[in-house]
Amino acid sequence: MLERLCALTGAEIRFEPLDLRNREALEALLAEARVDAVVHFAGLKAVGESVEKPLLYYENNVGGTIALLQAMAAHGVRSLVFSSSATVYGDPERLPIPEDHALRPTNPYGKSKLMIEHLLADHAASDPAFRYAALRYFNPIGAHPSGRIGEDPRGIPNNLLPFVAQVAVGKLPALKVFGNDYATSDGTGVRDYIHVMDLARGHVAALDYLSRKKHSITCNLGAGRGYSVLEVVKAFERASGRKVPLEFAARRAGDVAASYADPSLAAARLGWKAALDIDAMCRDVWRWQSQNPHGY
Ligand code: WQD
Repeated sequence: MLERLCALTGAEIRFEPLDLRNREALEALLAEARVDAVVHFAGLKAVGESVEKPLLYYENNVGGTIALLQAMAAHGVRSLVFSSSATVYGDPERLPIPEDHALRPTNPYGKSKLMIEHLLADHAASDPAFRYAALRYFNPIGAHPSGRIGEDPRGIPNNLLPFVAQVAVGKLPALKVFGNDYATSDGTGVRDYIHVMDLARGHVAALDYLSRKKHSITCNLGAGRGYSVLEVVKAFERASGRKVPLEFAARRAGDVAASYADPSLAAARLGWKAALDIDAMCRDVWRWQSQNPHGY
């Protein structure tokens, strides 16, 4: 996504591994580089882990963001795109989910994202020159079409797509389907999957919006339609030509039956819409996974 962002914005790409909580390193970077805007992806994102280690998630995600905002303020950087998440909505009361839906996150990960959204709103209220775009991602999947960049989680993947890809490439034996008794078309969980390349374009559109407008925005980044687990598996089998063996298992704690976005605000204000469908997402995941069977 970074490569895509830089290609689209003409920004320079330079990798500086840095912990946001390291105030000195952050200050040095912002003092040395001319920074027009910050795209803030840094954060822990495993829902299950956040339940086991809430303080780690609040310290890392919220604490890191406070340090970033303080350093940005000290160096006159007043434009930020923030990677938020659809988990701020919790179990949806209505579908598709609009931005004014109730915000009831059910785990420390989602709560940390909502805390940061509140932080950004308060900071913007205290400094009219500061503006931000909080982008609520639904389910990002996919890989760069070159096959050079893909998702390679450490250990056993939590999320559906990397797990399915590792089954298809022979690294894992079978996919456990967490629940097939939901009130959905085929009983399995429905999610709004969005290609990472569409997601990158959404960030570029948000940066452009912030450079043109003098106010902030919070919006969904989703395709606006859901796919069930079984539909995703079928799409992956089409893309890979491989069979994905399944085992039906109990529901996973914390899962909701269905979640998909109302993406109309991003279309109206950012001029952004997801363009790539589930077959393109699976094709790009498979290209990366088949070229990197053991990951990076
Ligand atoms: C998708 C569907 C599972 C794995 C999570 C985070 C969310 C966001 C995206 C950052 C569900 C089913 C999964 C498996 C399965 N991350 N599944 N077997 O849970 O919607 O969202 O990732 O913002 O914050 O919560 O995504 O990919 O884990 O699950 O049946 O081995 O696939 O039950 O229905 P989820 P997921």
